[in-house]
Formats: sequence, C-alpha cells, structure tokens
Amino acid sequence: MRAFEPFRFKAVDPIRMTTAEERAAALERAGCNVFQLAARDVIIDLLTDSGTGAMSSAQWSAMMRGDESYAGSESFYRFERVVRDLTGYRHVLPTHQGRAAERILFQALLQPGDVTLSNTHFDTTRANVEFAGAEARDLVIDAARTPSLPHPFKGNMDLDALEDVLATEGDRVRLVMVTITNNSGGGQPVSMENVSAIRDVCRRHGRLFLLDACRFAENAWLVKQREPGFRGRSPKSIAQQMFSLADGCIVSAKKDGLANIGGFLALNDDALAERCRNLLILTEGFPTYGGLAGYDLEAIATGLEEVVDEAYLSHRIASVESFASRLIDAGVPIVRPAGGHGVFVDARALLPHIAPLEYPGIAFVNELYVEHGVRACEIGSVMFGRTPAAGERPAPLELVRLAIPRRLYSDAQLRYAAEAVIEVAARAETLSGLRMTWQPQYLRHFTARFEPLRAMSVR
Ligand code: F0G
Repeated sequence: MRAFEPFRFKAVDPIRMTTAEERAAALERAGCNVFQLAARDVIIDLLTDSGTGAMSSAQWSAMMRGDESYAGSESFYRFERVVRDLTGYRHVLPTHQGRAAERILFQALLQPGDVTLSNTHFDTTRANVEFAGAEARDLVIDAARTPSLPHPFKGNMDLDALEDVLATEGDRVRLVMVTITNNSGGGQPVSMENVSAIRDVCRRHGRLFLLDACRFAENAWLVKQREPGFRGRSPKSIAQQMFSLADGCIVSAKKDGLANIGGFLALNDDALAERCRNLLILTEGFPTYGGLAGYDLEAIATGLEEVVDEAYLSHRIASVESFASRLIDAGVPIVRPAGGHGVFVDARALLPHIAPLEYPGIAFVNELYVEHGVRACEIGSVMFGRTPAAGERPAPLELVRLAIPRRLYSDAQLRYAAEAVIEVAARAETLSGLRMTWQPQYLRHFTARFEPLRAMSVR
C-alpha cells in the first residue's frame, strides 16, 4: 500500500496562478535572483524548508497558552524542559533563529585567526565565522564530492583530515562542529559511528565539539534506516544519543522544530554559556525569551515533541525519496542517495557547457521558475564561490536544491514540481549562463543581481 500524509488539512491557502510571461517580467525586476521575487509570484515554493512548514493544531493551541511574562515565563520553562530532555545540555538559550545562536556563540568563542572545522558549514554559519575574523574549513568525506556516488552517510566528516588539521593548526582550532544533516552537501546524514569518532578525537585534543542540529530528527531517521544496530530504536532515542556525544548544539527551530521562527543554543560549559547569555541579553532579549514571544516557545516545544514521531518521519523521508526517484528514472543527475529535506540536482553534470562562474545553478533555477513557477535555490558558486581567504573561485559542487517544506505540499503538488524539473533538464543544452552585476559583502546569494549572457525567451 502506498504511504500517504499521516495528517489531514484543516486550513488551506489558495495558490495564485501566473503565466510564463508574468514570471519572466517578475524575474527581470528581481535582478534574475529568485530570492528577490514576491512569494505571490511563485506557484510551488521549494526555495527552503526553513520556517515554511505547516504547524499542527496542537502547536496552534499551545500558542494560546503562551506566557508573555518578560522574566520567568512558564512557556520558557516548558521549552527548556523539552530541549533538555532531548539534548541533555544544561544551559538552554532561546534565540530568534539559528543564525542568532551562531553569531552569539562565535562572538563569545572566536578571535581573528581562529579556525573552525565542520563537515560543511552552511551559508550563515560560514558567514558568521568569517564575520568574527576566523576561518571556516570543510572536512567532509571524499564521497560527498561526487554527487552520483551512493554512500549511506555522505555527511560524515573525514577523520584523517580532522586529525591532520588538529596536528598542524593546533590551538588555532577553536571549534569542531558537525552539521546534521549536512545541508550544503545534499541533506546527507552523519552516522552515529562518525559522530562518536569525532567526539573521541576532540576529547583527545581537548577541543569543543558542537552539533549544528537543525535537522536532527531527519538525521536520526536516516541513522535508523541505514546504520546497523539502530533499526529497533526510536528516532528520539537515536537523537538523544547523538546529542550526548557533543558538548552542545546550535539549532534553527525553523526546520525540525516544526516552527515558523525560532532557534536555540544549548551548552554544557558553564563559563561559555555565561558569556553567551550576556551577549543574548545585549541583542536578543532576556534569557527566558531570547528574541522570541512566549507563544513561539510553545510552538517550538510542541514541534520538537511532534517531529520525532515515526509516522511523520517515515512519510517525510518517503516523499523526498519518491521525488528523487522520479528524477532518477528520468535520467536527471542528482545527489544520491536522496537526503533528508530535499532533492539536490547536480547542475555541473547537467549543464557542462556553462562555466562555474557563469553560474549553472542559477541558470537552472531561473528557467525552472519562468517556465513552471517552481522556486528552487542554488547551492553552488554564488552561495559558496567567494571566501575572504581565496577570493572568487568555483565552489566544490554546483547544486540546485529543491527543499521540501514540512507538511505543506501534497504529493500531487510535489509531482508537478518533479515533472517541471524533468522538463527543464530534458533541454538543458538550451540554457545559458549569467553574469553577476552587483553583490554585497556577506551572504551575496540573497541579494546579488544578475544579467543573462543570452537573452531569456519565454517558450
Ligand atoms: N545551520 C544550517 C545547517 C542551516 O540549514 C541553517 C539555515 C542555519 C544554520 C541558520 O538558521 O535560518 O534559522 O538562521 N538554513 C536555511 C536553509 C536558511 O534554507 O537551508 P536560520
């Protein structure tokens, strides 16, 4: 029997239909950057899975219980209980979203010249490390660099490389952080064995070890499916075990918190937590709300409880896999196997005639939008092609991410999006690259402007 959504729709939003001509004009006004589009001009929005999901009736009703006291709110104590139960960390600092936790942590921890190590730093994580004057180095395993190569844990960190860097850079390495799942590399999971080995290396070298755990539940589900010895375990107990291996975590609750806003920083170290708490008060808010309303804390607490439900996770991952299978069957090159939160098209393999610095990922994203109204996101040389150390150079991979928002789109809507990708991929050779005409200093993919090297025409 086919799996279906383990929930019913109780409130719906109409989707505004547009024509290809309207979308071509909207994209031109947006400087050929889909981040600059108005959402009403998008039919199916797979730009991100962050904060875009549908909340449950339990979350909406929990929000009515939100205690908006400035200090000592009941909602904070509930949030703290849920986060502690899940992660086991002593100090829980709520933030308005993940990057606020990053900024606070890095400001408290990093000095210019320091190095942070990760499987892959995500965009805001890397930017916040660099903003603190430190250097972000990615040490993902080699298999992750070949999108077509199947490997159950392509998010794993290369342990030899980790040992090497710790031996050569010594005290400059202030932090080792593992992103679960590895967003920039295709939403690929990290195994318990790998996290455990990283913990051992960090212990031996006396280094702080944290998780960037936005998608901890999807990672736990993939460990349950793919790692020997975890089949009979609950996703929650797998997540708890993984958290227990690290010294703390940063989390954007906009992913597996099943909330539309929020995040947190959780730590065991008293002194570091104290420094972070001081910074939290400076720009986020008092420690018992930290940049969120009491009702947001309730929504996240309920979301963290719901997200580890087996029926939910099983359907979630199956729907990503079925999207991926459709593309594989049609011969579209994607990162394999399918990850936890989306499908990642290999734009380098699909568009070999477009040079990396003519941005093949953006070319694909733009064509997909104009022709079919589907919004995707480049994860390639625009997002990762410039660092303070190396200047402008091609990113390791040119990917286009179709992120699946949680509990938002039906199978039929996702099938439309998959068919749209297949249609554009089938005439990939007709696409051409772009020139970047303007870029800001940080996180340029959000606001950069482009010009097509060859005028786009609506088919
Ligand atoms: N870490 C990872 C792995 C992320 O994917 C994100 C956000 C963050 C940190 C920052 O969290 O957005 O709440 O400030 N990723 C989103 C995405 C934006 O589209 O993947 P935030």
